[in-house]
Amino acid sequence: MTSFSSPLSSAPAVRLSQVTRTYGRGDRAFTAVNDISLDVQQGQSLAVVGKSGSGKSTLMHLMALLDTPTTGEVDVLGTPSARLRPREKNLIRNRPFGFVFQQFFLNGSQSVFENVSLPLVIAGVPARQRRAKVMAALESMGLEGKARNAASDLSGGQKQRVVIARALVNDPAVIFADEPTGNLDSATGAHVEDLLFDLQRRRGITLVIVTHDPDLAGRCDERVTIADGRVAMEGARAA
Ligand SMILES: Nc1ncnc2c1ncn2[C@@H]1O[C@H](COP(=O)(O)OP(=O)(O)O)[C@@H](O)[C@H]1O
Ligand SMILES: [Mg+2]
Repeated sequence: MTSFSSPLSSAPAVRLSQVTRTYGRGDRAFTAVNDISLDVQQGQSLAVVGKSGSGKSTLMHLMALLDTPTTGEVDVLGTPSARLRPREKNLIRNRPFGFVFQQFFLNGSQSVFENVSLPLVIAGVPARQRRAKVMAALESMGLEGKARNAASDLSGGQKQRVVIARALVNDPAVIFADEPTGNLDSATGAHVEDLLFDLQRRRGITLVIVTHDPDLAGRCDERVTIADGRVAMEGARAA
């Protein structure tokens, strides 16, 4: 069993090598991601930008092992994902990866505490340790007072902070965020952005952020623009 807790320090967090993803077959085949190669270095923030339908979410799902390429290879922390068993992929999604999606994916009828506990329950962490980790993650998002509230009772910004707390609770190496501020007003969105970049700066967490927002993309170390499933432009942040 491969260990992901101490990755090779020089290995990219994620490496895509000539990755293509085609949906459907025959005349209905549609290539959403077309021969993309890119590296995301550990500790880096990468913005994936492009028009709606360009293939950004498909690309992110491939990077995060939520989807499998039709051809090409995805390496995670130096390990080729094609060699991983399903159980090992699940472990990676659960441990070194955290997810922040626009649509929140919170269970509204459960408490904030229960929502944030979920990755730890999946990982089999004992209840006492779960409690400490969940409360630490909630505190880091300023939500310690909301632990017992139903998730449905929160504002949009609070919900997104709960989602970030849940992404953080397993101490991930990489956070994947798909339009993390898309449903938030600009002030709340800016606050959520600050929280994400703070995690990158203070904990060395790698960020992969799909966004339409040029300001958010401009705050990332690197940007890749996708058009019709291909890389149209790549660039680092101006100094
Ligand atoms: N499961 C699927 N089956 C068929 N086509 C899909 C599927 N998922 C996405 N697509 C198509 O792939 C293209 C890229 O989608 P997506 O990656 O969601 O783009 P983006 O996130 O940039 O808006 C779109 O044309 C979309 O309709
Ligand atoms: Mg999308």
